[in-house]
Amino acid sequence: MFGRDSGLSLDQAPPLQIPLRFFVTAPIFGIVAGLFILAFVPSLAARSSLEVITLTHFFTIGFLAMVMIGAMFQMLPVVAGARFKYQNILAPLIHSLLSGGLIVFAYGIYTYTSIAMIVAMVLMAFAFLMFIFSTLSALIKAKNVTPTIKAFIFSLLSLFIAILLAMHITISHATTDISTSHQALLNAHILFSLMGWVGMLIIGVSFQVVPMFYVAESYPEFYKKHAVKVIFISMLGLAFGLINDNYQLYLLFKIFISLVFIDYGVTTVSRLITRKRKISDTTIHYWYLAMSMLIVALLLSLANEYFNNYLLNTVAAIIFIYGFAMSIITGMLYKVVPFLTWFHLTNQGYMNMPTMNDLIGKKLTTIQFYLHVVSLASLIGLVFINDLQVVAGVVVFLSNAFILYNLIKGSKLYFTKQGLEKMNF
Ligand code: HEM
Repeated sequence: MFGRDSGLSLDQAPPLQIPLRFFVTAPIFGIVAGLFILAFVPSLAARSSLEVITLTHFFTIGFLAMVMIGAMFQMLPVVAGARFKYQNILAPLIHSLLSGGLIVFAYGIYTYTSIAMIVAMVLMAFAFLMFIFSTLSALIKAKNVTPTIKAFIFSLLSLFIAILLAMHITISHATTDISTSHQALLNAHILFSLMGWVGMLIIGVSFQVVPMFYVAESYPEFYKKHAVKVIFISMLGLAFGLINDNYQLYLLFKIFISLVFIDYGVTTVSRLITRKRKISDTTIHYWYLAMSMLIVALLLSLANEYFNNYLLNTVAAIIFIYGFAMSIITGMLYKVVPFLTWFHLTNQGYMNMPTMNDLIGKKLTTIQFYLHVVSLASLIGLVFINDLQVVAGVVVFLSNAFILYNLIKGSKLYFTKQGLEKMNF
């Protein structure tokens, strides 16, 4: 999918620097999130507090969106047979607008400064919209609309809706003009950004990578054909229910979406258990963790329709963002970064290389995996126990610093070419 197996020629693949700048920035924002917890987040109990909103975006934009956008730059030539026009300008531009915008956003939200909120919103919305339109225009032109392309298109449409809603809610804060529909629009922003943009993109990527990287059976045709359509239509129905205060409609669609995602989680786990390539590396642990956390998050969120406890909702959100999305993305980074390093080096004629697995090494990724699990547990703990602030801050910091170290280790050979000899044919 990312290289030779798919028939991707070297002149189509973007230079390594293009996706890598996004991949490496993600754990840097993870580190910032750890420091931010240490300094400013005594508790995660109040979901709508300014520090929790800020922290959420360090993870959702700083980590998740950063990697997902980088991955799209890498994958577009493969899945749609087209690369981004002007990718050498577009990638650094989107990357810097998003990074700069997120820093201003954090300052603006945490200090509740209107002008900073607006500046940040303009910078990030501009970055996201440029990304959405350039990707969509390439995907729509693809000759063969595969289930992955379909998932990407729906994911980008969801991101578009999420960004429009984000602009509205940010302007409401900046002008302190909070309308009665604010909460419904905020919930719709959360829905379209997490389930739509993040969830559907991950589903689309899974359709490609699970069979390819793990030599596992493909997802059922029926699921591949219809799942994202059902999710997207249900999200529209759910948002309609939210905005019109129609609880039955909201609940019906929420159950639909949850079932499709739970089905995805169970199907993925069963594919991985019965995979032909039985080698068990850290990325497999990440997949199992991610899928089980996805199912737990959805069940908790459904159960909360009965219990109606706001803390339970916060726990479900943490488990979805940190336990599901960040896990799968970190696991994929450990596959993709060594692969791309190897791919670009072999294409330049370097042959005497360490294997892809040795580029980072299992020991380092395993230690990081355990740190990730502890940081997830400590973030959940911070919803209930204020004393965990230091622990949570330190482990989130360490876990992300480790990811950064591992990614640098996995890619530095490309830049140093140390000990490599070029073969001349
Ligand atoms: C231009 C980009 C974005 C802007 C300006 C923005 C703005 C905001 C604002 C102002 C809030 C708080 C609203 C309130 O509580 O009244 C919020 C909440 C939230 N946003 Fe975004 N957002 C953006 C992108 C995203 C993305 C891409 C994601 C996910 C991938 C996301 C996920 C969330 C979540 C989960 C919350 C709830 C946080 C909480 O309640 O603590 N946002 N967003």
